Amino acid sequence: MNKILIIGGSKGIGRQIINELISDNEIINYSRTVPEISHANLTHFTIDVLKDDLPEIKDVSTIIYCPGSINLKPIGRFSLDEFREDFEINVIGSIKVIQKYISNLKRATNASILLFSTVATKLGMPYHSSVAVSKSAVDGLVKTLGAELAPGIRVNAIAPTITNTDLASKLLRNEKAIDSMVERHPLKKILDPKDVAKMAKFLISEDASAISGQTFNLDAGIVSFKI
Ligand SMILES: NC(=O)c1ccc[n+]([C@@H]2O[C@H](COP(=O)([O-])OP(=O)(O)OC[C@H]3O[C@@H](n4cnc5c(N)ncnc54)[C@H](OP(=O)(O)O)[C@@H]3O)[C@@H](O)[C@H]2O)c1
Repeated sequence: MNKILIIGGSKGIGRQIINELISDNEIINYSRTVPEISHANLTHFTIDVLKDDLPEIKDVSTIIYCPGSINLKPIGRFSLDEFREDFEINVIGSIKVIQKYISNLKRATNASILLFSTVATKLGMPYHSSVAVSKSAVDGLVKTLGAELAPGIRVNAIAPTITNTDLASKLLRNEKAIDSMVERHPLKKILDPKDVAKMAKFLISEDASAISGQTFNLDAGIVSFKI
Protein backbone atom coordinates (compact mmCIF):
# COMPACT_ATOMS: atom_id res chain seq x y z
CA MET A 1 0.00 0.00 0.00
CA ASN A 2 1.23 3.50 -0.83
CA LYS A 3 1.14 6.03 1.97
CA ILE A 4 -0.34 9.27 0.67
CA LEU A 5 -0.42 12.61 2.47
CA ILE A 6 -3.22 14.80 1.20
CA ILE A 7 -3.65 18.39 2.28
CA GLY A 8 -7.29 19.40 1.80
CA GLY A 9 -9.15 16.12 1.57
CA SER A 10 -12.21 17.34 3.46
CA LYS A 11 -13.87 19.04 0.49
CA GLY A 12 -13.98 19.43 -3.26
CA ILE A 13 -11.32 17.82 -5.43
CA GLY A 14 -9.34 16.53 -2.44
CA ARG A 15 -12.39 14.74 -1.03
CA GLN A 16 -12.93 13.05 -4.38
CA ILE A 17 -9.25 12.06 -4.54
CA ILE A 18 -9.65 10.33 -1.16
CA ASN A 19 -12.73 8.50 -2.47
CA GLU A 20 -10.75 7.30 -5.51
CA LEU A 21 -7.70 6.15 -3.56
CA ILE A 22 -8.88 5.04 -0.14
CA SER A 23 -9.49 1.36 -0.81
CA ASP A 24 -5.94 0.68 -2.10
CA ASN A 25 -3.82 3.20 -0.18
CA GLU A 26 -3.12 4.42 3.30
CA ILE A 27 -4.12 8.09 3.41
CA ILE A 28 -3.26 10.82 5.90
CA ASN A 29 -5.41 13.94 5.55
CA TYR A 30 -4.67 17.43 6.88
CA SER A 31 -7.50 19.96 6.78
CA ARG A 32 -9.18 22.42 9.14
CA THR A 33 -12.43 20.41 9.17
CA VAL A 34 -12.92 16.67 9.49
CA PRO A 35 -13.70 14.74 6.27
CA GLU A 36 -17.17 13.15 6.17
CA ILE A 37 -15.71 9.85 5.04
CA SER A 38 -14.31 7.53 7.68
CA HIS A 39 -12.33 4.45 6.68
CA ALA A 40 -9.75 2.17 8.26
CA ASN A 41 -7.18 3.41 5.72
CA LEU A 42 -7.77 7.12 6.52
CA THR A 43 -6.10 9.08 9.32
CA HIS A 44 -7.15 12.70 9.79
CA PHE A 45 -5.29 15.54 11.50
CA THR A 46 -7.12 18.81 12.07
CA ILE A 47 -4.49 21.23 10.85
CA ASP A 48 -4.38 24.71 9.37
CA VAL A 49 -1.46 24.27 7.02
CA LEU A 50 -0.48 27.94 7.23
CA LYS A 51 -0.67 28.34 11.00
CA ASP A 52 0.03 24.99 12.64
CA ASP A 53 3.20 22.98 13.07
CA LEU A 54 3.13 19.90 10.88
CA PRO A 55 3.37 16.55 12.69
CA GLU A 56 6.15 14.01 12.21
CA ILE A 57 4.96 11.15 10.03
CA LYS A 58 6.66 8.08 8.62
CA ASP A 59 6.90 6.46 5.21
CA VAL A 60 5.09 8.94 3.02
CA SER A 61 5.51 8.34 -0.71
CA THR A 62 3.09 10.92 -2.14
CA ILE A 63 2.09 14.47 -1.27
CA ILE A 64 -1.05 15.99 -2.80
CA TYR A 65 -1.59 19.66 -1.93
CA CYS A 66 -5.14 20.89 -2.65
CA PRO A 67 -5.74 24.20 -0.82
CA GLY A 68 -6.18 27.14 -3.16
CA SER A 69 -8.22 30.22 -3.93
CA ILE A 70 -10.40 31.82 -6.59
CA ASN A 71 -10.64 35.51 -5.70
CA LEU A 72 -11.66 37.45 -8.79
CA LYS A 73 -11.85 41.23 -9.13
CA PRO A 74 -10.32 44.15 -11.03
CA ILE A 75 -6.70 44.68 -10.05
CA GLY A 76 -7.42 48.08 -8.53
CA ARG A 77 -9.80 46.52 -6.02
CA PHE A 78 -7.31 43.98 -4.66
CA SER A 79 -5.33 45.01 -1.61
CA LEU A 80 -1.71 43.92 -1.50
CA ASP A 81 -2.61 41.80 1.51
CA GLU A 82 -5.15 39.90 -0.60
CA PHE A 83 -2.41 39.12 -3.13
CA ARG A 84 -0.21 37.97 -0.25
CA GLU A 85 -2.97 35.80 1.27
CA ASP A 86 -3.61 34.06 -2.06
CA PHE A 87 0.13 33.49 -2.44
CA GLU A 88 0.34 32.06 1.07
CA ILE A 89 -2.35 29.42 0.60
CA ASN A 90 -1.48 28.48 -2.99
CA VAL A 91 2.30 28.55 -2.80
CA ILE A 92 3.85 28.97 0.66
CA GLY A 93 1.60 26.29 2.18
CA SER A 94 2.76 23.77 -0.40
CA ILE A 95 6.42 24.70 0.12
CA LYS A 96 6.01 24.29 3.89
CA VAL A 97 4.64 20.77 3.41
CA ILE A 98 7.25 19.78 0.83
CA GLN A 99 10.11 21.02 3.02
CA LYS A 100 8.76 19.16 6.03
CA TYR A 101 8.37 15.79 4.31
CA ILE A 102 11.01 15.84 1.57
CA SER A 103 13.25 13.41 3.45
CA ASN A 104 10.31 10.97 3.79
CA LEU A 105 9.74 11.12 0.04
CA LYS A 106 13.44 10.60 -0.67
CA ARG A 107 13.27 7.26 1.15
CA ALA A 108 10.17 6.08 -0.75
CA THR A 109 9.71 4.27 -4.06
CA ASN A 110 7.44 5.78 -6.76
CA ALA A 111 7.56 9.04 -4.82
CA SER A 112 5.67 12.01 -6.19
CA ILE A 113 4.24 15.42 -5.43
CA LEU A 114 1.02 16.66 -7.01
CA LEU A 115 0.04 20.35 -6.90
CA PHE A 116 -2.88 22.33 -8.33
CA SER A 117 -2.60 25.14 -10.83
CA THR A 118 -5.34 26.70 -12.98
CA VAL A 119 -6.14 27.33 -16.64
CA ALA A 120 -5.81 31.04 -15.78
CA THR A 121 -2.01 30.79 -15.99
CA LYS A 122 -2.32 29.89 -19.69
CA LEU A 123 -5.42 31.84 -20.76
CA GLY A 124 -5.61 35.55 -19.99
CA MET A 125 -8.93 36.23 -18.28
CA PRO A 126 -10.00 39.53 -16.72
CA TYR A 127 -10.06 39.74 -12.91
CA HIS A 128 -7.82 36.67 -12.44
CA SER A 129 -4.63 38.60 -11.57
CA SER A 130 -4.18 37.28 -8.04
CA VAL A 131 -4.87 33.61 -8.74
CA ALA A 132 -2.84 33.77 -11.96
CA VAL A 133 0.16 35.19 -10.08
CA SER A 134 0.00 32.51 -7.38
CA LYS A 135 -0.64 29.58 -9.68
CA SER A 136 2.08 30.71 -12.10
CA ALA A 137 4.40 30.33 -9.12
CA VAL A 138 3.02 26.80 -8.68
CA ASP A 139 3.85 26.07 -12.35
CA GLY A 140 7.39 27.34 -11.75
CA LEU A 141 7.75 25.26 -8.62
CA VAL A 142 6.66 22.14 -10.50
CA LYS A 143 9.22 22.74 -13.22
CA THR A 144 12.14 23.48 -10.92
CA LEU A 145 11.41 20.80 -8.31
CA GLY A 146 10.83 18.26 -11.08
CA ALA A 147 14.44 18.86 -12.11
CA GLU A 148 15.85 19.21 -8.60
CA LEU A 149 14.26 16.04 -7.22
CA ALA A 150 14.74 13.79 -10.27
CA PRO A 151 15.04 10.88 -10.61
CA GLY A 152 13.61 9.84 -7.24
CA ILE A 153 10.60 12.13 -6.83
CA ARG A 154 8.25 13.14 -9.63
CA VAL A 155 6.53 16.53 -9.40
CA ASN A 156 3.45 17.45 -11.44
CA ALA A 157 0.39 19.68 -11.31
CA ILE A 158 -3.11 19.63 -12.70
CA ALA A 159 -4.49 22.93 -14.03
CA PRO A 160 -8.25 22.49 -13.98
CA THR A 161 -10.84 24.73 -15.53
CA ILE A 162 -13.87 25.51 -13.38
CA THR A 163 -14.79 22.52 -11.24
CA ASN A 164 -18.00 22.04 -9.31
CA THR A 165 -16.76 22.46 -5.73
CA ASP A 166 -17.36 24.79 -2.78
CA LEU A 167 -14.47 26.96 -3.97
CA ALA A 168 -16.22 27.67 -7.29
CA SER A 169 -19.71 28.01 -5.81
CA LYS A 170 -19.89 31.79 -6.32
CA LEU A 171 -19.22 31.33 -10.03
CA LEU A 172 -21.74 28.46 -10.28
CA ARG A 173 -24.40 30.12 -8.15
CA ASN A 174 -27.45 29.17 -10.27
CA GLU A 175 -28.51 27.23 -13.38
CA LYS A 176 -28.00 30.25 -15.63
CA ALA A 177 -24.43 30.76 -14.43
CA ILE A 178 -23.68 27.04 -14.85
CA ASP A 179 -25.17 26.98 -18.39
CA SER A 180 -23.10 30.01 -19.34
CA MET A 181 -19.90 28.39 -18.02
CA VAL A 182 -20.70 25.15 -19.89
CA GLU A 183 -21.34 27.12 -23.09
CA ARG A 184 -17.92 28.87 -22.87
CA HIS A 185 -16.09 25.54 -23.00
CA PRO A 186 -15.54 23.88 -26.41
CA LEU A 187 -16.31 20.44 -24.93
CA LYS A 188 -19.56 21.88 -23.52
CA LYS A 189 -18.94 20.86 -19.95
CA ILE A 190 -17.38 22.05 -16.75
CA LEU A 191 -15.47 19.67 -14.52
CA ASP A 192 -16.81 17.35 -11.90
CA PRO A 193 -14.33 16.67 -9.06
CA LYS A 194 -14.24 13.06 -10.36
CA ASP A 195 -12.66 14.25 -13.63
CA VAL A 196 -9.82 15.80 -11.65
CA ALA A 197 -9.47 12.96 -9.14
CA LYS A 198 -9.04 10.39 -11.91
CA MET A 199 -6.21 12.41 -13.42
CA ALA A 200 -4.64 12.79 -9.98
CA LYS A 201 -4.85 9.03 -9.49
CA PHE A 202 -3.01 8.47 -12.77
CA LEU A 203 -0.31 11.09 -12.13
CA ILE A 204 0.69 9.63 -8.77
CA SER A 205 0.63 6.05 -10.05
CA GLU A 206 3.51 4.01 -11.46
CA ASP A 207 1.79 4.28 -14.86
CA ALA A 208 3.03 7.90 -14.85
CA SER A 209 6.62 6.97 -13.99
CA ALA A 210 7.93 8.82 -17.08
CA ILE A 211 6.10 12.08 -16.28
CA SER A 212 7.57 14.87 -14.16
CA GLY A 213 7.89 18.65 -14.20
CA GLN A 214 4.59 19.10 -16.02
CA THR A 215 1.42 21.08 -15.45
CA PHE A 216 -1.49 19.47 -17.28
CA ASN A 217 -4.45 21.46 -18.50
CA LEU A 218 -7.71 19.72 -17.69
CA ASP A 219 -9.59 22.35 -19.58
CA ALA A 220 -12.68 21.04 -21.44
CA GLY A 221 -10.99 22.70 -24.42
CA ILE A 222 -11.04 26.27 -23.13
CA VAL A 223 -7.26 26.77 -23.37
CA SER A 224 -6.68 24.40 -26.27
CA PHE A 225 -9.37 25.31 -28.84
CA LYS A 226 -10.95 28.37 -30.37
CA ILE A 227 -14.08 26.99 -32.02
N1 LIG B 1 -12.75 24.48 -8.20
C1 LIG B 1 -12.27 25.09 -9.27
O1 LIG B 1 -13.03 25.59 -10.12
C2 LIG B 1 -10.78 25.17 -9.49
C3 LIG B 1 -10.33 25.67 -10.73
C4 LIG B 1 -8.96 25.79 -10.93
C5 LIG B 1 -8.07 25.40 -9.96
N2 LIG B 1 -8.55 24.89 -8.78
C6 LIG B 1 -7.58 24.51 -7.76
O2 LIG B 1 -7.77 23.16 -7.38
C7 LIG B 1 -7.46 23.00 -5.99
C8 LIG B 1 -8.61 22.32 -5.25
O3 LIG B 1 -9.75 23.15 -5.42
P1 LIG B 1 -11.17 22.81 -4.76
O4 LIG B 1 -12.16 23.46 -5.64
O5 LIG B 1 -11.28 21.38 -4.42
O6 LIG B 1 -11.05 23.66 -3.40
P2 LIG B 1 -11.97 23.59 -2.06
O7 LIG B 1 -13.30 23.03 -2.38
O8 LIG B 1 -11.86 24.95 -1.45
O9 LIG B 1 -11.18 22.54 -1.15
C9 LIG B 1 -9.93 22.92 -0.62
C10 LIG B 1 -9.49 21.95 0.45
O10 LIG B 1 -8.32 22.51 1.09
C11 LIG B 1 -8.53 22.58 2.50
N3 LIG B 1 -7.88 23.77 3.03
C12 LIG B 1 -8.07 25.06 2.65
N4 LIG B 1 -7.32 25.89 3.39
C13 LIG B 1 -6.63 25.10 4.24
C14 LIG B 1 -5.69 25.37 5.27
N5 LIG B 1 -5.29 26.63 5.58
N6 LIG B 1 -5.16 24.33 5.97
C15 LIG B 1 -5.55 23.05 5.69
N7 LIG B 1 -6.44 22.75 4.73
C16 LIG B 1 -6.98 23.76 4.02
C17 LIG B 1 -10.04 22.63 2.66
O11 LIG B 1 -10.44 22.03 3.89
P3 LIG B 1 -10.86 22.85 5.21
O12 LIG B 1 -11.73 23.98 4.78
O13 LIG B 1 -11.54 21.77 6.01
O14 LIG B 1 -9.57 23.29 5.81
C18 LIG B 1 -10.51 21.72 1.53
O15 LIG B 1 -10.48 20.36 1.95
C19 LIG B 1 -7.14 24.40 -5.46
O16 LIG B 1 -5.74 24.59 -5.41
C20 LIG B 1 -7.74 25.32 -6.48
O17 LIG B 1 -7.07 26.57 -6.57
C21 LIG B 1 -9.87 24.76 -8.54
